[in-house]
Amino acid sequence: MSNVIEISGLNKKFGSGENEALIFDGAELQIEKGSFVSLTGASGSGKSTLLYLIGGLDRDYTGNISVGGKSIAGMNDRQLSAMRSEKLSYVFQFYNLVANLTVEENILLPIELSGKKVKNYREKLREILEMTGLSEKRRNYPSQLSGGQQQRCSIARAVLSEPEILLADEPTGNLDKAAGEEIMKLFKRLNEENGITVLQVTHSDACAAYGSRIVRLSDHRLEDVGGSKLSSLN
Ligand SMILES: Nc1ncnc2c1ncn2[C@@H]1O[C@H](COP(=O)(O)OP(=O)(O)OP(=O)(O)O)[C@@H](O)[C@H]1O
Ligand SMILES: [Mg+2]
Repeated sequence: MSNVIEISGLNKKFGSGENEALIFDGAELQIEKGSFVSLTGASGSGKSTLLYLIGGLDRDYTGNISVGGKSIAGMNDRQLSAMRSEKLSYVFQFYNLVANLTVEENILLPIELSGKKVKNYREKLREILEMTGLSEKRRNYPSQLSGGQQQRCSIARAVLSEPEILLADEPTGNLDKAAGEEIMKLFKRLNEENGITVLQVTHSDACAAYGSRIVRLSDHRLEDVGGSKLSSLN
């Protein structure tokens, strides 16, 4: 299996001198295509920072980060944004939906903004609405949805363009247990049926357990603490 994300010898700090905060010190991580990885670790350890680094949104580091087999260090801004739009999608704790657009319009927004033809995505949109349980809500506005529905809308928006990798930063952090489980089941389907590689940050053991692999960030490094990767090493 090929790796869609490869990180080696990653060093990252914020600030300098007295204000220096060390985040990564020789961190390594390989993520196989088609896997579902849960990333855990203490608050402030650098999980969100890692997701930004993978997307090339923070370029202040040393070491190697490759996405889809290509090192991102050598990419210029245009190449980086092309890499992001082809390969990655982000989902955050707060759904970041546009209040005055309907569910359907929110989901289509990235397609419109990237200048692609919306009509080519009609069938895919129908499938995604169905999969996320939002078919009936497609003409509603975000304020008319529950938190779980809003998060499912933001996930639909993230996957309409069929990214290779879904990066989710505490996607259930704002939801109750039942709504959180719906999100995890949705990720599992996207992973198993659509082949999307998932890297999710979570503080919940129950959510982490949905991953095929659990990676922990501690002492400025990344290590497997559960899932198939660990059992194959033992
Ligand atoms: N732009 C920045 N400038 C300076 N320090 C930063 C910056 N962004 C993050 N940090 C610091 O880096 C550390 C890691 O932050 P990060 O947001 O990645 O943690 P996290 O693991 O995602 O935490 P949480 O679980 O609370 O979301 C924190 O100590 C934070 O204060
Ligand atoms: Mg965070």
